[in-house]
Amino acid sequence: MKKILIVLMMATLVVACSRSASKAAAEKAAADKAAAEKVATERAALVTAGHAVYTDKTMCARCHKPKDVTAYTQERWTGILKKMVPMAKLNETEATQVTAYVMENAKK
Ligand code: HEC
Repeated sequence: MKKILIVLMMATLVVACSRSASKAAAEKAAADKAAAEKVATERAALVTAGHAVYTDKTMCARCHKPKDVTAYTQERWTGILKKMVPMAKLNETEATQVTAYVMENAKK
């Protein structure tokens, strides 16, 4: 009788633990999803702000009309931005924003 009780207790423990483990997994999945959505939202805001920098007549469009952003690959953009960001005298925030915008829309 004692043995049966012990086995039953063990079985209950195993079931309880696996339930809380799957609950924890579900909670983690939900947290991961929320974090991914937050990153996507922040990225979208960065890209939008970058478009403003790109077309602003006091920043990227000061010397020339905004170039076709899709005409250059990400690799080309890396080199172009190295030259253009200092020419446009962008601060760090504006540089990050315009980089997000061109990389998002670069030639695939
Ligand atoms: C001070 C003037 C000036 C500013 C500000 C400026 N550019 Fe330029 N940009 C130029 C000149 C001059 C050229 C052409 C000569 C060259 O490629 O260096 C050029 C060329 C380009 C090209 C063509 C490059 C190629 O190889 O075909 C792109 C794209 C470009 N600029 C993007 C930008 C972006 C994005 C910004 C803002 C971060 C910016 N420019 C700000 C002067 C400027």
